[in-house]
Amino acid sequence: MSHSNNRRGSFITLEGVDGAGKSTHVQWIVECLRDCGVSVLSTREPGGTALGEQLRQMVLQMPMHLETETLLMFAARSEHIRTVIEPALSRGEWVVCDRFTDASYAYQGGGRELGADRIRTLEQWLHPQLQPDRTWFFDVPLEVARERLNRSRELDRFEQEGQAFFQRTRDGYHARVKQNPQRFHIVDSTRPVQEVKEGIADQVRALVRAWREAPVPHKP
Ligand code: TYD
Repeated sequence: MSHSNNRRGSFITLEGVDGAGKSTHVQWIVECLRDCGVSVLSTREPGGTALGEQLRQMVLQMPMHLETETLLMFAARSEHIRTVIEPALSRGEWVVCDRFTDASYAYQGGGRELGADRIRTLEQWLHPQLQPDRTWFFDVPLEVARERLNRSRELDRFEQEGQAFFQRTRDGYHARVKQNPQRFHIVDSTRPVQEVKEGIADQVRALVRAWREAPVPHKP
């Protein structure tokens, strides 16, 4: 099935605090999109390029100053946007990205208390035009997220943070949702996985339908 006919792909991101269940649903969203016949590139941040994956190792494991951490997140992102995300969208592919700049607002801006202004400055420098077309925000009460995390494998530098950090991070996400209500969809991730999946599948089909029905822009 043809996927592009000159139409730019859609940029989908997934967000949530650690333990919110986001990872469970990434693959499902990709599968639903493929079932709809669109070409999909699945990727993640920090990471998504060879350089970005090395930066990910460092930033998740090595102690560093907050400014350094923030810049490394955006260094990885800059490489990712220029070499992977933008080229794919231009080819007409959909990009599903596990975390993007909203995570910097929530974790560095909120959790680590850097504030939103610094993040906005970097965002405006590095990707003034690019915004996700749809962001699914997986939300659970903090106790549930903590409980899910404690059951999982070895914890990274963020996952080891305390309750207050996650409260500020979750608040940071809620502020982003409030500022961008059309782009965000909140997923109540306390519901049974199957139910969440069905809701997401419906939304994916609606997104693809709207994308196919949108007028194709003329090439200049
Ligand atoms: P995560 O996406 O939860 O991956 P996994 O499911 O493999 O643990 O891990 C990425 C971590 O990086 C997460 O704790 C949030 C953090 N992060 C930031 O602090 N800022 C950012 O800009 C991004 C993209 C991620």
